[in-house]
Amino acid sequence: MPKILVTRHVGEHAMGILNQSGLELIINPEDAAPSREWVLKHIADPDVQAVCLMHSQPSDKVDQEFIDTASKSLKCVSTFSVGFDHIDVKAANAKGIKVGHTPGVLNNAVADITVMLVLMTLRKIGYSIDLIKQGRWPQLPWAPFVNCGQSIGHPSLTIGFLGFGRISQAALDRLLAFTNKEHPPKIIYNSSRRRDNQDTIDADFSKRWGVQVQRVEKEELATQSDILIVLCDLNPSTKDLVNKEFLGKMKKSAILVNVARGPIVNSEDLHEALSTGQIWGAGLDVLTGEPNIKADHPLLHLDNCLVIPHLGSADYDTRNGMAELCVRNAIAAVKGEELLAEVKV
Ligand code: GLV
Ligand code: GLV
Repeated sequence: MPKILVTRHVGEHAMGILNQSGLELIINPEDAAPSREWVLKHIADPDVQAVCLMHSQPSDKVDQEFIDTASKSLKCVSTFSVGFDHIDVKAANAKGIKVGHTPGVLNNAVADITVMLVLMTLRKIGYSIDLIKQGRWPQLPWAPFVNCGQSIGHPSLTIGFLGFGRISQAALDRLLAFTNKEHPPKIIYNSSRRRDNQDTIDADFSKRWGVQVQRVEKEELATQSDILIVLCDLNPSTKDLVNKEFLGKMKKSAILVNVARGPIVNSEDLHEALSTGQIWGAGLDVLTGEPNIKADHPLLHLDNCLVIPHLGSADYDTRNGMAELCVRNAIAAVKGEELLAEVKV
């Protein structure tokens, strides 16, 4: 009897779908990450044909050890995430293991968080909440320029995206509701490679949003952006991409928002850029080393840096949608059907 291994309870909605699949299930009984040993033991079971796993659990890393340990009958690893930097996709595919993920269903939620971080950072909300909790409101009463931030309606604004996939596009839909209608912002983005028909693609984008949208090289993205939004995959070519050199090219008035993966931005270099005024502010949903971030982490102690704990897709509807896609990918693989969303590299 084929089995699906589930490394973390995925909620009643998706568990219901799993239960109705007629397949046998092995479910981690704890509402916590299992041990690595528990995962390795079960993937070696020749009846386990698919695994639903979490990008956030160290036990679930699909590396060479995982792939070597998996029995030959394992057909699919299905991650409860759109990101797949915890999975060696090439090595998995080489053993005939397909990789499923959860794109699409989280676009709106992550785009919402992106816009929220942009606005909160521009308007110094993180700092302001700290201020009143520390009893400092009396020292900073309402006055013409006290506690002022920057306007998203500024007439000559350039918004830059590092990565211009589905989530960036959903974020752009929203941001344009806030920007200056008479002097619309210029939108620039960098995606991994320039296409042969890049000019046509950009003309179509510009038409779609009614503002100028243009692919630029990374250097120009750094120098031109007033708001720089990181929404690309983490892979060897994007790790540490936003480093001292990149930050050094940015405008002193610019803000950086990272909603992708922590290691794309070098934390030490960002700390230096924020504390020396090389850039104006940062809003981070992700941080290298998460979730093991201690209260004394230097980035948590800057007035111009707002950090939230990886909340991008964290609303109930979105997480249920991701859970459903995650389990449906696994069920499809076991039944010999196409995955609903397969990672192709
Ligand atoms: C979360 O970060 C995801 O990749 O879905
Ligand atoms: C962000 O929280 C800032 O203070 O700029």
